[in-house]
Amino acid sequence: MTLDATAPGPAPVDLGDPDLYTTDARFTMWEEYTRSDAKIWSGPGRSPSGFWSVFSHRDVTAVLSPKAPFTSEYGMMIGFDAEHPDNSGGRMLVVSEGDWHSTLKRLIGPFLSRLRAPELQSVLHQEVRDIVRRLRSQDSTDIARGIGPRLPAAVVCEIIGVPLSEREQLIELTNHAFGGEESSFDRMTPAEAHTEILFYFHDLIERRRRQPGSDLVSALLEDGRLSTEDVLVNCDNVLIGGNETTRHSITGAFHALQAFPDTLDALHADPELAAPAVEEVVRWTSPAAHVLRVATEDCEIGGQEILKGQPVVAWLSAANRDERLFPDPHRFVPDRRPNRHLGFGNGPHHCLGAALARLELRALLQELAAEARRVELAGEVRWMRSNLVQGYSSLEVSVDWR
Ligand code: HEM
Repeated sequence: MTLDATAPGPAPVDLGDPDLYTTDARFTMWEEYTRSDAKIWSGPGRSPSGFWSVFSHRDVTAVLSPKAPFTSEYGMMIGFDAEHPDNSGGRMLVVSEGDWHSTLKRLIGPFLSRLRAPELQSVLHQEVRDIVRRLRSQDSTDIARGIGPRLPAAVVCEIIGVPLSEREQLIELTNHAFGGEESSFDRMTPAEAHTEILFYFHDLIERRRRQPGSDLVSALLEDGRLSTEDVLVNCDNVLIGGNETTRHSITGAFHALQAFPDTLDALHADPELAAPAVEEVVRWTSPAAHVLRVATEDCEIGGQEILKGQPVVAWLSAANRDERLFPDPHRFVPDRRPNRHLGFGNGPHHCLGAALARLELRALLQELAAEARRVELAGEVRWMRSNLVQGYSSLEVSVDWR
């Protein structure tokens, strides 16, 4: 395949096409692009303003570095339209820059940092034990639907301050809102389920205004600078950030344990291996497939001129399999060191929930290694049809217990 890397024009393939990401062929495509340090222009289509794509670890790091002349404020994913920029821009953490971004980070960060871990530990361990109980009670389980979503949704409910009696319903809605196009629940579309969650948050904000607690909603209100709408969009940011990615890294952890069967015994023999193995899960699964930025001035990335206002997509999932950084990149190596993956992004927007995601994955790997001997496929691996989330629509497995 020859790549037109010089001038904006139609790309050899439409990189916004979600169908490209439903098969393993994407790994071969990315391998070619990272190896050749490709820069590809996809013309207007699914993304009305078109976009550049970069793939190699070096180029992706450069686009996301703190000093690079790029912004998230107009939007951060494919679909970006210069005529209609993201209307949460400048209000929601992930699409804010500068002082407001720092303010939001200072307010939200402590709720996601390791410091709060002891308060989250009981939710975490109860959910992990529940996962094992569920797996043990069934001959085979679709991890993507039945297991992956539960832990992140429960943790996000705890952070936001969803009362226990309302959690099950919210977890169900969350599962559906982020479960992909094929998900069905109460005859709602995923978008309708997401709207339902936003109505719920609106109601919760009003309740916390009258009766504050020690949760994120109360802290955001207490600060006094955020409108109801600001609190709402930032709760939504934590909800999406915490669910959409983590559920697929959990499902992907089962996939890795199945595809590289020695891993469970290695983790069983040395529970400390869980720390590097968690990093490898994030690299190998790379659930956040891409992030988008808009150039704030004319600049150059890896020799490619980028004009002010042009969007650039940094393919994290491709960079995480760049063989120059990760020898034998398709292999899951639990003790891979160094492992400078970009799964949590890079620069000012580096994932604020990374510590939490690591805790969730670590708890899961350790519990599984203690109890399970083998994970086996009991169906076809089905990938989600998405250019944004590298995830599973189905991963049916059976477990052989110790
Ligand atoms: C940002 C990935 C888990 C909350 C990000 C970004 C990535 C990412 C790539 C950067 C976005 C950008 O540069 O535009 C992941 C992955 C996760 C994970 C792969 C799991 C394996 C979580 C969790 C939470 C969370 C558990 C919260 C409960 C956030 C927030 C941001 C963010 C609030 C915005 C940070 C900012 O803009 O300053 N995440 N994330 N994430 N993530 Fe995560």
